[in-house]
Amino acid sequence: MRICMIGTGYVGLVSGACFADFGHDVVCVDKDQSKIDGLLAGKMPIWEPGLEALVAHNASRGRLKFTTDLAEGLDEAEAIFIAVGTPARRGDGHADLTYVYAAAKEIAGAMTRPAVIVTKSTVPVGTGDEIARILKENNAPEGTSVASNPEFLREGAAIRDFKIPDRIVVGAEDERAREVLREVYRPLFLNKAPILFTGRRTAELIKYAANAFLATKISFINEIADLCEAVGADVQEVSRGIGLDNRIGPKFLHAGPGYGGSCFPKDTLALLQTAEGADVPMRIVSAVVSVNDARKAAMADRVEEELGGSASSKRVGVLGLTFKPNTDDMRDAPSLALIKRLQEKGASVTAFDPVGREQAEPMLPGVTFADDAYAVADGADALVLVTEWDEFRALDLRRLAAKMTGKVLVDLRNVYEPEEVERVGLTYRGVGRGDLVG
Ligand SMILES: NC(=O)c1ccc[n+]([C@@H]2O[C@H](COP(=O)([O-])OP(=O)(O)OC[C@H]3O[C@@H](n4cnc5c(N)ncnc54)[C@H](O)[C@@H]3O)[C@@H](O)[C@H]2O)c1
Repeated sequence: MRICMIGTGYVGLVSGACFADFGHDVVCVDKDQSKIDGLLAGKMPIWEPGLEALVAHNASRGRLKFTTDLAEGLDEAEAIFIAVGTPARRGDGHADLTYVYAAAKEIAGAMTRPAVIVTKSTVPVGTGDEIARILKENNAPEGTSVASNPEFLREGAAIRDFKIPDRIVVGAEDERAREVLREVYRPLFLNKAPILFTGRRTAELIKYAANAFLATKISFINEIADLCEAVGADVQEVSRGIGLDNRIGPKFLHAGPGYGGSCFPKDTLALLQTAEGADVPMRIVSAVVSVNDARKAAMADRVEEELGGSASSKRVGVLGLTFKPNTDDMRDAPSLALIKRLQEKGASVTAFDPVGREQAEPMLPGVTFADDAYAVADGADALVLVTEWDEFRALDLRRLAAKMTGKVLVDLRNVYEPEEVERVGLTYRGVGRGDLVG
C-alpha cells in the first residue's frame, strides 16, 4: 500500500520507517527543508536507538522516501497520516491544533483522489470532525474519510513499541477507513497485536485517558515517596510491594523528579481543557498536574538542603538532562526546572548528558557543558543524578568522589546503592528513602 506520512518528528519518522519495513511504500513529507535534506543524506533529525539503520535499509530498498513536496507525497496514497506536533497552547493548556488544521487544509488542496486521512498526532475529542469539515470546505475529493489512530510508542523504545504494540487503536466512522487501516496494520495482526476498532471520538479520548492514567501513577508514587521520607519507609519496596499485585502492575511506579517529556505535561493539560469545555470536573487529573508541578519545583530545594541550606555560590554537577534515557528529547524535562531554580538560588551548574547536549544547550543558558560524568564532578559541591542513563549506573564512584570538592550525591532516580555511595565518603540522598534517615 502507498502511505503518506506528514511530519517527520519522533512519531512520523519512526512510524514511516516501520511501515516501510513492513513492505509498504511510504513517502514522508515535512515542511522543514533542513530535516528533509538531512534525511536524504542519511542524517537523522532525532536520536532514537536503531532508527538510522532502519531508515537506511528501507530507503535503499526504495520503499521509504522523503520530500518537502506534498503533492509528490500524496501521489496515489491510500492512507495519509498526519503526525505533526500538537504542543500546549501558550497560556491556557489547550492543545494547539494549528499545525494539524494547516496540514488538513494543505492535504485537501493537493489531493487528486479519495484517501483515508488518519490523525496519528494526539488530538482532543472532536478534532477528526473538524478535519472532516476542513476537507469538505476545501473540496477534498468525494469519498475521502477521516480516521483516528493515536500512537502509543515511547521515545527510546519507539521501534520496538511500534512493531510490537500492546494494542492498535483505530477510530473510524466508515467501513472504507476501517478496511484501509486493517490493510495498513495487517503485518501486525499476523503477530497477534490486538486491534481495537472504535468510533473516532472514542479513539481520540483513549490516548488522553491512557496518558493521564500513567501520569497519575507517577504523581501517586511521588506522593507516597514523600510520605516514605516522613515516616521512615522505603518507596522502592513499597513500589515492589504494590506492583506485584496484577491489578496494579509494576510499571510507572518509580519515584523521581516528576514526569516531563513531550506528552504527559501537555496531554494532561489538554484533557483538563476538554473536561472543562464539557463541564465535567476531573479532580484527579487536576491534582496529578499540580502534584507534578510542585514536585519539579521541590527538587532544587532538596539539593539546597543537602548543601547545608544554601546553594549560593555552590557548584552543582548534573548528570543527565533529557526527560528520560535513550532520547535526545528535552521537552519539559525535569532538569530544566531543577537547573533554573538552582541558578536562581545562586548556584553555578555544570552538566553532562550522553546525547542531549545539542537540544539542551539553547534551553539552558549559563550552564557549563562537560564532556563526561567525571568532568561534571570536577570541583562540584554536589552531584545530582537527574536522568538514569545506563552509562551512569556503573560509574567509578571513588573516582567521582575524589574529583569533588563537596561530599553530596543526590540521586533523583534511586540508581545507586546508598551503602556503595557512602563507602566512598559521599553523603547519599535518594528519593523516598525514609529508611535511610537517622
Ligand atoms: N514524541 C512522542 O513520544 C509521541 C508519542 C505518541 C504520540 N505523540 C504525538 O505525536 C504528535 C507528533 O509528535 P512528535 O514528537 O513526533 O512531534 P515533532 O515536533 O517531533 O514533529 C512534528 C513534525 O511535523 C512537521 N510539520 C508540522 N507541520 C507540518 C506540515 N503542515 N506539513 C509537513 N510537516 C509538518 C514539523 O516540521 C516536525 O518535523 C504529537 O501530537 C504528539 O503528541 C508523540
